[in-house]
Amino acid sequence: IDATTDLFAEIERLKKEKNAIVLAHYYQEPDIQDVADYIGDSLGLAQKAAQTNADMIVFAGVHFMAETAKILNPSKKVLLPDLKAGCSLADSAPGPQFKAFKDKHPGHLVVSYINCTAEIKALSDIICTSGNAEKIIESIPEDQPIIFAPDKNLGAYLNKKTGRDMLLWNGACMVHEIFSLEKITKLKIRHPKAKLLAHPECEEPILRIADYIGSTTQLLKFAVKDDSREYIVATETGILHQMQKDAPNKTFIPAPPNNSCACNDCPHMKLNTLEKLYLCMEYELPEITMEENLRLAAKKPIDRMLEISK
Ligand code: 13P
Ligand code: SF4
Repeated sequence: IDATTDLFAEIERLKKEKNAIVLAHYYQEPDIQDVADYIGDSLGLAQKAAQTNADMIVFAGVHFMAETAKILNPSKKVLLPDLKAGCSLADSAPGPQFKAFKDKHPGHLVVSYINCTAEIKALSDIICTSGNAEKIIESIPEDQPIIFAPDKNLGAYLNKKTGRDMLLWNGACMVHEIFSLEKITKLKIRHPKAKLLAHPECEEPILRIADYIGSTTQLLKFAVKDDSREYIVATETGILHQMQKDAPNKTFIPAPPNNSCACNDCPHMKLNTLEKLYLCMEYELPEITMEENLRLAAKKPIDRMLEISK
Protein backbone atom coordinates (compact mmCIF):
# COMPACT_ATOMS: atom_id res chain seq x y z
CA ILE A 1 0.00 0.00 0.00
CA ASP A 2 1.06 3.62 -0.51
CA ALA A 3 -0.31 7.06 0.26
CA THR A 4 -2.81 6.80 -2.60
CA THR A 5 -4.43 3.57 -1.38
CA ASP A 6 -8.08 4.09 -0.49
CA LEU A 7 -8.13 2.05 2.71
CA PHE A 8 -11.90 2.41 3.15
CA ALA A 9 -12.56 0.96 -0.34
CA GLU A 10 -9.95 -1.78 0.15
CA ILE A 11 -11.44 -2.84 3.49
CA GLU A 12 -14.92 -2.95 1.93
CA ARG A 13 -13.56 -5.10 -0.90
CA LEU A 14 -11.89 -7.52 1.53
CA LYS A 15 -15.06 -7.78 3.62
CA LYS A 16 -16.95 -9.03 0.59
CA GLU A 17 -14.18 -11.23 -0.80
CA LYS A 18 -13.57 -12.98 2.51
CA ASN A 19 -17.08 -12.87 3.99
CA ALA A 20 -15.60 -10.91 6.90
CA ILE A 21 -17.34 -8.82 9.53
CA VAL A 22 -15.59 -5.90 11.23
CA LEU A 23 -16.63 -5.45 14.85
CA ALA A 24 -15.42 -2.28 16.55
CA HIS A 25 -15.54 -0.95 20.08
CA TYR A 26 -16.52 2.69 20.68
CA TYR A 27 -12.97 3.45 21.86
CA GLN A 28 -11.52 2.82 18.41
CA GLU A 29 -10.35 5.76 16.30
CA PRO A 30 -13.14 7.42 14.25
CA ASP A 31 -11.99 6.00 10.87
CA ILE A 32 -12.22 2.45 12.22
CA GLN A 33 -15.67 3.11 13.68
CA ASP A 34 -16.79 4.47 10.30
CA VAL A 35 -15.67 1.37 8.41
CA ALA A 36 -17.06 -1.13 10.96
CA ASP A 37 -20.14 -3.29 10.34
CA TYR A 38 -21.04 -3.06 13.98
CA ILE A 39 -19.91 -0.73 16.77
CA GLY A 40 -20.80 -1.54 20.34
CA ASP A 41 -20.00 -1.96 23.99
CA SER A 42 -18.48 -5.19 25.29
CA LEU A 43 -21.89 -6.82 25.72
CA GLY A 44 -23.13 -5.87 22.25
CA LEU A 45 -19.87 -7.02 20.71
CA ALA A 46 -20.00 -10.40 22.48
CA GLN A 47 -23.64 -10.85 21.43
CA LYS A 48 -22.83 -9.93 17.84
CA ALA A 49 -19.84 -12.30 17.82
CA ALA A 50 -22.11 -15.09 19.11
CA GLN A 51 -24.62 -14.55 16.27
CA THR A 52 -22.58 -13.80 13.17
CA ASN A 53 -22.38 -16.16 10.23
CA ALA A 54 -19.35 -14.46 8.69
CA ASP A 55 -16.32 -16.68 8.05
CA MET A 56 -13.91 -14.15 9.45
CA ILE A 57 -14.31 -11.85 12.47
CA VAL A 58 -12.03 -8.84 12.40
CA PHE A 59 -12.02 -7.44 15.90
CA ALA A 60 -11.17 -3.77 16.16
CA GLY A 61 -10.80 -3.68 19.92
CA VAL A 62 -8.44 -5.16 22.48
CA HIS A 63 -7.18 -8.68 23.04
CA PHE A 64 -9.76 -9.87 25.61
CA MET A 65 -12.57 -8.85 23.24
CA ALA A 66 -11.14 -10.76 20.27
CA GLU A 67 -10.43 -13.68 22.60
CA THR A 68 -14.10 -13.69 23.67
CA ALA A 69 -15.13 -13.77 20.00
CA LYS A 70 -12.80 -16.75 19.43
CA ILE A 71 -14.15 -18.57 22.50
CA LEU A 72 -17.61 -18.27 20.96
CA ASN A 73 -16.48 -19.12 17.41
CA PRO A 74 -13.82 -21.84 17.43
CA SER A 75 -14.18 -22.64 13.73
CA LYS A 76 -13.99 -19.03 12.54
CA LYS A 77 -10.89 -17.01 11.88
CA VAL A 78 -10.69 -14.21 14.46
CA LEU A 79 -8.23 -11.42 13.72
CA LEU A 80 -6.97 -8.53 15.86
CA PRO A 81 -5.18 -5.73 13.95
CA ASP A 82 -2.49 -5.39 16.64
CA LEU A 83 -1.84 -8.32 18.95
CA LYS A 84 -0.24 -5.95 21.48
CA ALA A 85 -3.60 -4.21 22.06
CA GLY A 86 -3.99 -5.42 25.63
CA CYS A 87 -5.84 -3.96 28.61
CA SER A 88 -4.44 -2.65 31.91
CA LEU A 89 -7.49 -4.02 33.71
CA ALA A 90 -7.10 -7.52 32.28
CA ASP A 91 -3.36 -7.34 33.09
CA SER A 92 -4.17 -6.51 36.72
CA ALA A 93 -5.44 -10.07 37.28
CA PRO A 94 -2.73 -12.65 36.44
CA GLY A 95 -4.05 -16.23 36.39
CA PRO A 96 -1.88 -17.86 39.11
CA GLN A 97 -2.41 -15.03 41.63
CA PHE A 98 -6.13 -15.01 40.99
CA LYS A 99 -6.30 -18.78 41.39
CA ALA A 100 -4.55 -18.47 44.80
CA PHE A 101 -6.99 -15.71 45.82
CA LYS A 102 -9.95 -17.85 44.79
CA ASP A 103 -8.58 -20.88 46.69
CA LYS A 104 -8.25 -18.72 49.83
CA HIS A 105 -11.97 -17.96 49.72
CA PRO A 106 -13.82 -21.24 49.21
CA GLY A 107 -17.59 -21.13 48.91
CA HIS A 108 -17.53 -17.93 46.88
CA LEU A 109 -19.09 -17.63 43.44
CA VAL A 110 -16.74 -15.87 41.02
CA VAL A 111 -18.23 -13.10 38.89
CA SER A 112 -15.69 -11.64 36.48
CA TYR A 113 -15.94 -8.53 34.40
CA ILE A 114 -15.39 -9.43 30.73
CA ASN A 115 -12.20 -7.30 30.77
CA CYS A 116 -10.05 -10.27 31.80
CA THR A 117 -8.01 -13.03 30.16
CA ALA A 118 -9.42 -16.39 29.07
CA GLU A 119 -7.51 -17.89 32.01
CA ILE A 120 -9.50 -15.76 34.49
CA LYS A 121 -12.74 -16.51 32.64
CA ALA A 122 -11.98 -20.22 33.01
CA LEU A 123 -11.72 -19.67 36.78
CA SER A 124 -15.04 -17.82 36.88
CA ASP A 125 -18.65 -18.93 37.33
CA ILE A 126 -20.22 -16.10 35.40
CA ILE A 127 -19.04 -13.17 33.29
CA CYS A 128 -20.58 -9.70 33.24
CA THR A 129 -20.05 -6.45 31.37
CA SER A 130 -20.76 -2.93 32.55
CA GLY A 131 -23.99 -3.09 30.55
CA ASN A 132 -25.46 -6.10 32.38
CA ALA A 133 -23.50 -6.30 35.67
CA GLU A 134 -26.40 -5.28 37.91
CA LYS A 135 -28.72 -7.81 36.28
CA ILE A 136 -26.12 -10.56 36.61
CA ILE A 137 -25.49 -9.82 40.31
CA GLU A 138 -29.23 -9.64 40.99
CA SER A 139 -29.64 -13.10 39.43
CA ILE A 140 -27.48 -14.60 42.21
CA PRO A 141 -29.15 -15.53 45.55
CA GLU A 142 -28.58 -12.78 48.13
CA ASP A 143 -26.91 -15.05 50.69
CA GLN A 144 -24.34 -16.38 48.18
CA PRO A 145 -20.84 -14.96 48.87
CA ILE A 146 -19.30 -13.51 45.70
CA ILE A 147 -15.80 -12.66 44.50
CA PHE A 148 -15.85 -9.88 41.92
CA ALA A 149 -12.84 -9.40 39.64
CA PRO A 150 -10.86 -7.64 38.29
CA ASP A 151 -12.23 -4.06 38.53
CA LYS A 152 -12.45 -2.74 42.09
CA ASN A 153 -14.21 0.47 40.96
CA LEU A 154 -16.98 -1.31 39.09
CA GLY A 155 -17.15 -3.81 41.99
CA ALA A 156 -17.55 -1.05 44.60
CA TYR A 157 -20.19 0.63 42.44
CA LEU A 158 -22.09 -2.68 42.16
CA ASN A 159 -21.83 -3.32 45.90
CA LYS A 160 -23.43 0.07 46.48
CA LYS A 161 -26.13 -0.42 43.84
CA THR A 162 -27.12 -3.96 44.81
CA GLY A 163 -26.47 -3.81 48.57
CA ARG A 164 -24.10 -6.81 48.32
CA ASP A 165 -20.76 -7.17 50.00
CA MET A 166 -18.76 -8.79 47.21
CA LEU A 167 -15.10 -9.48 47.83
CA LEU A 168 -13.20 -7.31 45.33
CA TRP A 169 -10.03 -8.06 43.41
CA ASN A 170 -7.75 -5.03 43.42
CA GLY A 171 -7.64 -4.15 39.71
CA ALA A 172 -8.44 -0.99 37.78
CA CYS A 173 -8.42 0.57 34.32
CA MET A 174 -5.63 3.09 33.73
CA VAL A 175 -7.88 5.32 31.60
CA HIS A 176 -10.81 5.57 34.00
CA GLU A 177 -8.62 6.31 37.02
CA ILE A 178 -7.15 9.40 35.38
CA PHE A 179 -10.02 11.84 35.84
CA SER A 180 -9.63 14.79 38.20
CA LEU A 181 -12.52 15.48 40.57
CA GLU A 182 -11.24 19.01 41.12
CA LYS A 183 -11.01 19.82 37.41
CA ILE A 184 -14.40 18.27 36.65
CA THR A 185 -15.93 20.31 39.48
CA LYS A 186 -14.37 23.51 38.07
CA LEU A 187 -15.58 22.60 34.57
CA LYS A 188 -19.10 22.08 35.93
CA ILE A 189 -19.01 25.60 37.40
CA ARG A 190 -18.13 27.01 33.97
CA HIS A 191 -20.81 24.81 32.31
CA PRO A 192 -23.58 24.75 34.93
CA LYS A 193 -26.08 23.04 32.64
CA ALA A 194 -23.71 20.29 31.49
CA LYS A 195 -24.49 16.77 32.71
CA LEU A 196 -21.68 14.48 33.77
CA LEU A 197 -21.77 11.07 32.05
CA ALA A 198 -19.45 8.51 33.65
CA HIS A 199 -18.41 4.94 33.03
CA PRO A 200 -18.60 2.70 36.15
CA GLU A 201 -14.86 1.94 35.82
CA CYS A 202 -14.31 5.50 37.18
CA GLU A 203 -13.39 5.99 40.84
CA GLU A 204 -16.10 6.54 43.45
CA PRO A 205 -15.69 10.35 43.87
CA ILE A 206 -16.32 10.83 40.12
CA LEU A 207 -19.29 8.43 40.14
CA ARG A 208 -20.74 10.24 43.17
CA ILE A 209 -21.15 13.49 41.21
CA ALA A 210 -22.20 11.84 37.90
CA ASP A 211 -25.65 12.52 36.47
CA TYR A 212 -25.70 9.23 34.60
CA ILE A 213 -23.54 6.09 34.89
CA GLY A 214 -23.44 3.33 32.30
CA SER A 215 -21.59 1.27 29.71
CA THR A 216 -20.47 3.01 26.52
CA THR A 217 -23.69 2.04 24.71
CA GLN A 218 -25.80 3.17 27.66
CA LEU A 219 -23.94 6.52 27.86
CA LEU A 220 -24.46 7.05 24.13
CA LYS A 221 -28.18 6.19 24.26
CA PHE A 222 -28.67 8.47 27.27
CA ALA A 223 -26.88 11.38 25.55
CA VAL A 224 -29.08 11.01 22.45
CA LYS A 225 -32.45 10.87 24.22
CA ASP A 226 -31.76 13.24 27.12
CA ASP A 227 -32.87 16.87 26.72
CA SER A 228 -29.73 18.69 27.90
CA ARG A 229 -27.42 20.38 25.41
CA GLU A 230 -24.05 19.89 27.04
CA TYR A 231 -22.27 16.90 28.53
CA ILE A 232 -18.97 16.21 30.26
CA VAL A 233 -17.91 12.69 29.35
CA ALA A 234 -15.86 10.68 31.85
CA THR A 235 -14.73 7.75 29.75
CA GLU A 236 -12.34 7.10 26.86
CA THR A 237 -12.56 9.81 24.18
CA GLY A 238 -13.42 7.43 21.29
CA ILE A 239 -17.09 7.44 22.33
CA LEU A 240 -17.33 11.17 21.55
CA HIS A 241 -17.24 10.35 17.83
CA GLN A 242 -20.58 8.49 17.92
CA MET A 243 -22.08 10.93 20.44
CA GLN A 244 -21.29 13.81 18.10
CA LYS A 245 -22.61 11.85 15.10
CA ASP A 246 -25.86 10.76 16.78
CA ALA A 247 -26.51 14.09 18.53
CA PRO A 248 -24.90 16.71 16.23
CA ASN A 249 -26.50 19.68 17.97
CA LYS A 250 -25.16 18.82 21.41
CA THR A 251 -21.76 19.60 22.89
CA PHE A 252 -19.62 16.85 24.38
CA ILE A 253 -16.62 17.78 26.50
CA PRO A 254 -14.07 15.11 27.50
CA ALA A 255 -13.68 15.04 31.30
CA PRO A 256 -10.26 16.51 32.20
CA PRO A 257 -7.50 14.19 33.44
CA ASN A 258 -5.61 14.95 36.67
CA ASN A 259 -2.33 15.58 34.89
CA SER A 260 -2.31 17.91 31.91
CA CYS A 261 0.32 15.70 30.19
CA ALA A 262 -2.07 12.75 30.36
CA CYS A 263 -5.04 12.14 28.09
CA ASN A 264 -8.19 10.02 28.16
CA ASP A 265 -7.15 7.86 25.21
CA CYS A 266 -6.68 4.16 25.90
CA PRO A 267 -3.15 3.43 24.64
CA HIS A 268 -4.15 -0.18 23.96
CA MET A 269 -7.31 0.58 21.97
CA LYS A 270 -5.44 3.22 20.01
CA LEU A 271 -2.77 0.74 18.84
CA ASN A 272 -5.22 -0.31 16.12
CA THR A 273 -5.15 1.87 13.01
CA LEU A 274 -7.04 1.78 9.71
CA GLU A 275 -3.85 0.66 7.98
CA LYS A 276 -3.30 -2.21 10.42
CA LEU A 277 -6.96 -3.17 10.01
CA TYR A 278 -6.49 -3.38 6.24
CA LEU A 279 -3.23 -5.33 6.52
CA CYS A 280 -4.68 -7.84 8.95
CA MET A 281 -7.60 -8.49 6.61
CA GLU A 282 -5.36 -8.82 3.59
CA TYR A 283 -2.84 -11.21 5.22
CA GLU A 284 -5.27 -12.79 7.74
CA LEU A 285 -2.86 -12.05 10.58
CA PRO A 286 -2.50 -11.70 13.55
CA GLU A 287 -4.93 -14.44 14.36
CA ILE A 288 -6.31 -15.35 17.80
CA THR A 289 -5.78 -19.00 18.67
CA MET A 290 -6.61 -20.88 21.84
CA GLU A 291 -6.06 -24.23 23.42
CA GLU A 292 -9.37 -26.18 23.32
CA ASN A 293 -9.61 -27.08 27.04
CA LEU A 294 -9.08 -23.45 28.00
CA ARG A 295 -11.64 -22.33 25.43
CA LEU A 296 -14.29 -24.72 26.74
CA ALA A 297 -13.68 -23.71 30.36
CA ALA A 298 -13.81 -20.00 29.47
CA LYS A 299 -16.96 -20.44 27.38
CA LYS A 300 -19.14 -21.72 30.22
CA PRO A 301 -19.33 -18.45 32.22
CA ILE A 302 -19.74 -16.43 28.99
CA ASP A 303 -22.68 -18.63 27.91
CA ARG A 304 -24.23 -18.10 31.33
CA MET A 305 -23.94 -14.34 30.90
CA LEU A 306 -25.40 -14.42 27.38
CA GLU A 307 -28.31 -16.54 28.61
CA ILE A 308 -29.18 -14.05 31.40
CA SER A 309 -28.73 -11.07 29.04
CA LYS A 310 -31.14 -12.30 26.37
P1 13P B 1 -18.08 -1.08 27.69
O1 13P B 1 -17.99 -0.62 26.27
O2 13P B 1 -18.68 -2.44 27.80
O3 13P B 1 -18.76 -0.06 28.53
O4 13P B 1 -16.57 -1.27 28.23
C1 13P B 1 -15.71 -0.22 28.39
C2 13P B 1 -14.29 -0.59 28.36
O5 13P B 1 -13.48 -0.11 29.09
C3 13P B 1 -13.87 -1.56 27.39
O6 13P B 1 -12.53 -1.75 27.48
FE1 SF4 C 1 -8.73 -1.83 29.26
FE2 SF4 C 1 -9.33 0.55 30.22
FE3 SF4 C 1 -8.37 0.36 27.77
FE4 SF4 C 1 -10.85 -0.52 28.32
S1 SF4 C 1 -10.14 1.58 28.41
S2 SF4 C 1 -9.27 -1.58 27.11
S3 SF4 C 1 -10.58 -1.26 30.41
S4 SF4 C 1 -7.26 -0.17 29.66
